[in-house]
Amino acid sequence: MVKSKDAFSWTDGKRPVCPIHSQVKLDILRSYIEAYFSTVAANPVIPAVNIHFVDAFAGGGIFTDPITRGPISGSPFVMLNTVHGSQQTINAGRTTNKLEIRAKYHFADLSRSAISELTRGIQASEYAPLLGTGDIQVDRMAFDEYLPRLLQRIPSHEKTKAIFFLDQCGWNIATLDHCNAILRHLPKAEIIWNISVESLAMFANDNPDFRKGIKRFGVDLGDAFTNQASFNHFSDWRKALVAIFLDAIRKGCVAKYVSPFMVQHDGWGYWLLHLSNHPQANNVMKATHWLHQNNSLHEGFAGLKMLEFNRNNFNQATMFRFDQAASEATQEALVEQLCPRISEMGGETTVEQLIESVANETPADRSRLYLALDALRSDGELRIRGPKDEKRQKTPQSQNDRLILNTTKQRFFVGFG
Ligand SMILES: C[S@@+](CC[C@H](N)C(=O)[O-])C[C@H]1O[C@@H](n2cnc3c(N)ncnc32)[C@H](O)[C@@H]1O
Repeated sequence: MVKSKDAFSWTDGKRPVCPIHSQVKLDILRSYIEAYFSTVAANPVIPAVNIHFVDAFAGGGIFTDPITRGPISGSPFVMLNTVHGSQQTINAGRTTNKLEIRAKYHFADLSRSAISELTRGIQASEYAPLLGTGDIQVDRMAFDEYLPRLLQRIPSHEKTKAIFFLDQCGWNIATLDHCNAILRHLPKAEIIWNISVESLAMFANDNPDFRKGIKRFGVDLGDAFTNQASFNHFSDWRKALVAIFLDAIRKGCVAKYVSPFMVQHDGWGYWLLHLSNHPQANNVMKATHWLHQNNSLHEGFAGLKMLEFNRNNFNQATMFRFDQAASEATQEALVEQLCPRISEMGGETTVEQLIESVANETPADRSRLYLALDALRSDGELRIRGPKDEKRQKTPQSQNDRLILNTTKQRFFVGFG
């Protein structure tokens, strides 16, 4: 296996080949940024969006395509090009009140050659003037040192928008403690965080060095280290440890919403976690994974048990791949599980409250939740009403719509409580 730090080397002006699993990650970043702006600037009277983009493991900017041998944009250029393209697309659909995206870019990397290639690439591009105005800042710095400086540069404010891309090699350079520091400083920030499950699983053991790495990362795995005897195979213990690690991230993270999905291609797998405090951001990232079906996956269940450890899935035979089968399994599970959840919430709730309640438990995006609610409505399990008690004939029309269980139809979940 090529070590990722060797694979990502821009030494002597060479452009490393971009493996397909990394291209998938860049595609997800691109789709997410596009969907982000169409969501935050959906209202045509919004004249401007101020936002910071942070790429703290930026690399050298340009890769080589393994098939065509031509250039491929790395994450800094994906950010620059997608922001530029999003502004043009949104403005093409607006007649008055054009949108201005006022973005500031913060790019950093530890590698001297990556930073000099990146700087050279930006200087030779249409974005060169942004270096002069300070809207693009490029630093050669290790992440540990860079993050506190960056957080001094961006004043703490509850409304400051920021997208952090933490595309580290391995799993514990950008840690949970770092992510929590970012979200405490900038509660509206979102973090797209690459954690190499491959390295984590490969190095997982009960030795002091690994334990130290876990401690530095900021999670407590309790007795997961010492319960090896309860597993038939060492590899099963490792997989369980990794699943517990993911659960510990979700529990220890200050973000309200964590999308815990993986990207996998040709046997390579890594988590591309998304942390945010906003249900809409969580929904946009889930919808992005549904767009990238087959390469996006998760190891848990459909429906509302997304993070429950699936011991039967060790051979990954029933992996959830955000494809048609996953969509059907999601629908089936939600149709069974949503009414019991609404019952626990008092038998009546708003769409917004239901989404907040289930967001961390399901891979379903809002459109799939709405489909399940529509199926329950047409089966007579629940009623959907507008704020003025208007009867909805199909899916909810707004987040404020109320969902009311039909008490006469509760046979569905009686006995499962
Ligand atoms: C996966 S590559 C980044 C690729 C880039 N995000 C892209 O998609 O175009 C990881 C980068 O992290 C850098 N790196 C490794 N250790 C680092 C550290 N401690 N702090 C900052 N950067 C580091 C490497 O030099 C490498 O360029």
